[in-house]
Amino acid sequence: MKGKFITLEGIDGVGKTTQLELLKIFAHEKSKDNWIFTRNPGGTELGIELREILLNNQTLRVTPLAETLLYIADRAEHISKFVIPALEEDTIIICDRFIDSTVAYQGYGRGLNIANIHKLNEIAIQGIKPDLTILFDADPSISFQRAKSRGQSGDKIEAEGLEFQKKIRAGFLEIAQLEPERFCIIDVAKKNPSEIHENVLKEIEKIIT
Ligand code: TMP
Repeated sequence: MKGKFITLEGIDGVGKTTQLELLKIFAHEKSKDNWIFTRNPGGTELGIELREILLNNQTLRVTPLAETLLYIADRAEHISKFVIPALEEDTIIICDRFIDSTVAYQGYGRGLNIANIHKLNEIAIQGIKPDLTILFDADPSISFQRAKSRGQSGDKIEAEGLEFQKKIRAGFLEIAQLEPERFCIIDVAKKNPSEIHENVLKEIEKIIT
């Protein structure tokens, strides 16, 4: 594969969306036409439908196992139809959430068997692992309140509350500890958005140059 695959992870309200927007502006201003932005769930026709079911449909309730399998289905489709073809070209794919979100949210958060989630992820990703994963980290009592005050607590996962976010944060940190060569953790509580952006760019440059 000629391209590079970068994933962004973190609990809700941690500023990931702001950083993605700053990266998109940077890519546009610097004419980095080979930088492609995508997300899980989403990024394919099926993914858009699944995102609606998983996050926005307030009446449909699915079991944690079915929820996990739907995230994995989104990932399998996204890898085959989007990520692999793009990596065969000389592209830098920047993906909003990926395998680690399922381990953190459905495994550490909902309590599903983590080894099984790893196996399902392995099947879905067909050997394609991120070259770099940037984990935005902050105490959930700060980030969750921030998401709520911005009116971003409407989706089903965010509606689970603060305790759920604490379990997920602990999960992300444990996952990152197990694969330090893939992860870069950015402590967002101590920095403003432009400092975080500079940090993110430095990490990306390390793997693309
Ligand atoms: P976001 O795209 O705005 O970050 O929101 C996606 C939500 O979906 C977020 O609350 C985390 C959740 N999610 C999971 O629970 N499991 C997953 O595998 C993925 C990719 C996302």
